[in-house]
Amino acid sequence: MKRNEKCLEDPETDLFNPNVLKQLSLPQTDGLSIRPLKSEDYDRGFLQLLAQLTEVGNVSREQFLSRFHMMKNAGNYYVIIIEDVNDEKLVATATLIVEQKFIHNCAVYIVEPLSIRAKTLLQRGRLEDVVVNSEYRGKHLGKLAVKIILELSRYLGCYKLTLDCKDRLIPFYESLGFKREPNNANYLNMRFPAIAEQSHL
Ligand SMILES: CC(C)(COP(=O)(O)OP(=O)(O)OC[C@H]1O[C@@H](n2cnc3c(N)ncnc32)[C@H](O)[C@@H]1OP(=O)(O)O)[C@@H](O)C(=O)NCCC(=O)NCCS
Repeated sequence: MKRNEKCLEDPETDLFNPNVLKQLSLPQTDGLSIRPLKSEDYDRGFLQLLAQLTEVGNVSREQFLSRFHMMKNAGNYYVIIIEDVNDEKLVATATLIVEQKFIHNCAVYIVEPLSIRAKTLLQRGRLEDVVVNSEYRGKHLGKLAVKIILELSRYLGCYKLTLDCKDRLIPFYESLGFKREPNNANYLNMRFPAIAEQSHL
């Protein structure tokens, strides 16, 4: 099915409100567009971009759209895209997941500065799936993708943002301000071999 035909029956949609990104103070990015993941990014090579990070598998358009709408309805998935506007190539992506919690008063903290009651969100963000197209690496686009997620996390009221990564990438994230906190830098895994072996993860 051609892209135009598809659009007629299923209009393109954003994963989250694009106006949120306009509120962030981001560096000038000539020739690049910064936007949410769109439903039609299946046809623009989004999964091929993710495949440069890890195995993606054979995901059909239906599977992609079903997962896309599940994430959109959940409302706490922020997959950002950096696109080269000249050749319409997706050059980088990163994901922020804002966790929903019962603790911390359902993540709403009441502060009373000068007797004015105000509500502050206390949410935890997780940074996931950062990848830059191999043709565009070394141009600070990885840094830009993470900075967008940092700004987005602040804007959405996260009190912290966490990630896990390969040891060799620790300097990359440290250069962006992430820290291994003394007495609090433990990352523990439980692998379930049968499933992990099947999926090569
Ligand atoms: C890791 C990745 C996102 C970096 O993107 P990039 O656009 O090439 O990186 P940048 O150009 O923004 O680099 C920013 C800085 O980090 C450094 N850096 C980049 N990759 C690095 C690496 N693998 N190890 C250590 N430092 C690294 C750069 O030298 C640069 O330093 P500078 O600011 O002093 O010049 C990219 O290499 C990639 O997509 N890799 C494959 C997927 C992956 O591993 N993702 C991370 C999952 S946790």
